Amino acid sequence: MKKKIVVLAGDGIGPEIMNSAIQVLKKVFENSYLRFDFEEHFFGGAGIDVKNDPLPEETLAACKQADAILLGAIGGHKWETAVRTPEKGLLDLRKALNLFVNVRPTFVSDALLHLSPIKKEIVQGTDLVVIRELIGGIYFGEPRYLGAEEAYDTNRYNVEEIKRVVRYAFEMAQNRRQHVLSVDKANVLATSKLWRKVTEEVAKEFPDCKLEHQYVDAAAMRIIQNPKAFDVIVTENLFGDILSDEASVLPGTLGVLPSASHGQENVSLYEPIHGSAPDVAGKNIANPVSMILSASLMLRESFDMYEESQKIETACFKVMEEGVLTKDLGGTASTTDFTAAVITKLN
Ligand code: NAD
Ligand code: IPM
Ligand code: MN
Repeated sequence: MKKKIVVLAGDGIGPEIMNSAIQVLKKVFENSYLRFDFEEHFFGGAGIDVKNDPLPEETLAACKQADAILLGAIGGHKWETAVRTPEKGLLDLRKALNLFVNVRPTFVSDALLHLSPIKKEIVQGTDLVVIRELIGGIYFGEPRYLGAEEAYDTNRYNVEEIKRVVRYAFEMAQNRRQHVLSVDKANVLATSKLWRKVTEEVAKEFPDCKLEHQYVDAAAMRIIQNPKAFDVIVTENLFGDILSDEASVLPGTLGVLPSASHGQENVSLYEPIHGSAPDVAGKNIANPVSMILSASLMLRESFDMYEESQKIETACFKVMEEGVLTKDLGGTASTTDFTAAVITKLN
């Protein structure tokens, strides 16, 4: 059996951590009947440099034909003033593939509590997932305008856009601890008032789950104050972006957090939640766990390969438990050292 994986390594640390993830996948499937064909394409700043476009036509066409997409990271100072920025390329890709849900899990294992900057008794037991709406809200709403004297963006959601992502969150909660927290700003925003109403309606389809609401400002505080109170968080595009980066403080680094983006029937995309980390790029010190775990999510969520996925996760956590850590977690292991240690565990 063959699976076509489109690889968008991107910019900054993207290519470094992508290399780690591909090595790990190759190791896990070295004696398997399954073959992955990794097909690399230009994307982000790399797309601008080579094709004058962050999302070249052939890259998008390849993504549409793929069995799954692995994405490293995009962006950087060099392209900040581009007509179409790498960030715009990423948003266009998500939109073109109709990837309306972005799953961002944060988990802190008992063996890695000491790596968190938060007190052990607070962070212990953290196992939450942010379900972020990915192709609506203020990221895409029209009109938008940037002038010299004035600028504006538009936050916009319709009922169907809210329903489909909230349903996804409830379905996930059914297989977890049956708790959904919907995060909004319904005390101020019209979009949030609609979000809350629709969420209440969807909740009726899932009587086995408990729904709560929280304003985003309070939720931002509580994620750090009492992270184990959270199970599934569902929220709009911008709030999900912010809260998921905030949640990375719990395990101690952005460098271990993966994500999965899904649409109705289209191909899924797997990427770390972090960016291209220009401050550490090119030094072989980036933490590749976020990308390796994104590949592991791909195995589970696109291909139902639970055993192989688990094997990769166990190997990553074991290596970290043994104290092989990259600089973001206070260690001295290089990206390639860490990757080699994970591969050894897969023997
Ligand atoms: P960032 O997420 O790239 O980095 C924030 C901090 O976390 C930095 O100190 C960085 O060194 C650290 N970090 C992130 N991932 C790491 C890893 N794997 N290992 C070790 N340290 C890691 O955010 P930023 O610096 O605000 O943005 C840099 C660029 O990335 C910008 O151009 C931004 O638009 C872009 N960006 C892209 C994505 C994406 O590709 N999905 C996501 C976020 C930001
Ligand atoms: C992310 C990033 C992107 C976002 C940017 C780079 C467009 O921060 O994937 O979290 O805001 O969605
Ligand atoms: Mn982000």
